[in-house]
Amino acid sequence: MKFTYYVNPQTSGAEHDADIIETCIDQAVRATHAGFVGVGLTEHHFSEFNTYSSNLMMAAHLAGRCAPGTRFIHAAVIAPLHNPISLAEHINLMDVLTKGNTIVGLATGGDAMEFVGLGRNPDRKHEDFGAVLTALKAAWSMKEGDAPLEWSTRFEAGTIYSRVMPSAYHREHPPLARMTISDKAAYDAGLVAEYIYMARLELAELLKRLDIYRGAMAGAGFSKDVIEDRLEWSFCFRNVIVRDSDAEAHDEAIRRIQMLHEYGLRTSAKIPGGALKAVIGPTGDPEEFVRKQFIIGSASSVKDQIDAYRSAGVRHLGMLFNFAFMSPEESNASLESFIRDVLPAFSDSGRNGLGAGA
Ligand SMILES: Cc1cc2nc3c(=O)[nH]c(=O)nc-3n(C[C@H](O)[C@H](O)[C@H](O)COP(=O)(O)O)c2cc1C
Repeated sequence: MKFTYYVNPQTSGAEHDADIIETCIDQAVRATHAGFVGVGLTEHHFSEFNTYSSNLMMAAHLAGRCAPGTRFIHAAVIAPLHNPISLAEHINLMDVLTKGNTIVGLATGGDAMEFVGLGRNPDRKHEDFGAVLTALKAAWSMKEGDAPLEWSTRFEAGTIYSRVMPSAYHREHPPLARMTISDKAAYDAGLVAEYIYMARLELAELLKRLDIYRGAMAGAGFSKDVIEDRLEWSFCFRNVIVRDSDAEAHDEAIRRIQMLHEYGLRTSAKIPGGALKAVIGPTGDPEEFVRKQFIIGSASSVKDQIDAYRSAGVRHLGMLFNFAFMSPEESNASLESFIRDVLPAFSDSGRNGLGAGA
């Protein structure tokens, strides 16, 4: 079982931002030196949902500090919010700085407030994603001596006369990934063997999705090595709370979900016509959210839950320790106990070389 330290801390105010970011940096360094194989980073802007905003900048900073060989997994870069040519440059630079230990998930984005704030239209995000992706890939594949590349999105247009600089780490671009919120999206990702990242799935649903993904890769003719590599490095992420007892962890999970729910209502209300953020989900049942998204309990119970994932064939989990406005002490308590009491039971969790096609 592999573990990625997933970084998406919510902030409760400007005065806390710097401390939260420093805590996450310390935790990423600590986790990767203890045996976590990856650091997962999100992109959100001024919606209070992710304090550090830029995952590409965070990865560049962490690359020099985390354990050698740590893989930086961008889940996700929100393509429609970027200029495609500068995005090509920044991703390539990040690939170089991490010595090729990078996976870039490109996604359409989830938050209307962020789109509106950055001058984008949330209702056109799928079309705009397609336009950015087309320009991004064309820029990446441009070689010295090629004809000029004309590109355009709804917001910008340009012509480049030279290759993108820097080039990626000994390749055209780093491996790509998709965020999948449906089995169909996982199937489509499998057809092109891109990594997939997931959330909010009970174990049975996760296994079904992984099976569809594996089947699509096999059907498309990818080799066993490629399929194994994609299954090793794709993950579903979970919010993790480790406390002295199951009851204590459960109470805290429900309290944190309530805080996230209130946050969702508060931020949705800020933008006229903003879609309600369904933090708890359509049923409004926090227990369902716990089942789909949390791993919680005493260290021994967390160990048993992860063992159940491993026995069922799950190979990698993203672990979110720092969320819902936790203090450093509150998130450190879970991480420290996890590293001390849970991680040793998963001795197969160590870092290994980049897999096929990576
Ligand atoms: C594992 C995972 C991570 C995500 N990370 C982000 C993120 O960092 N920023 C963001 O705006 N949206 C994020 N999303 C939401 C996606 O941008 C997108 O809204 C979702 O995948 C649905 O996309 P689709 O309508 O194109 O299928 C994430 C979704 C998943 C499943």
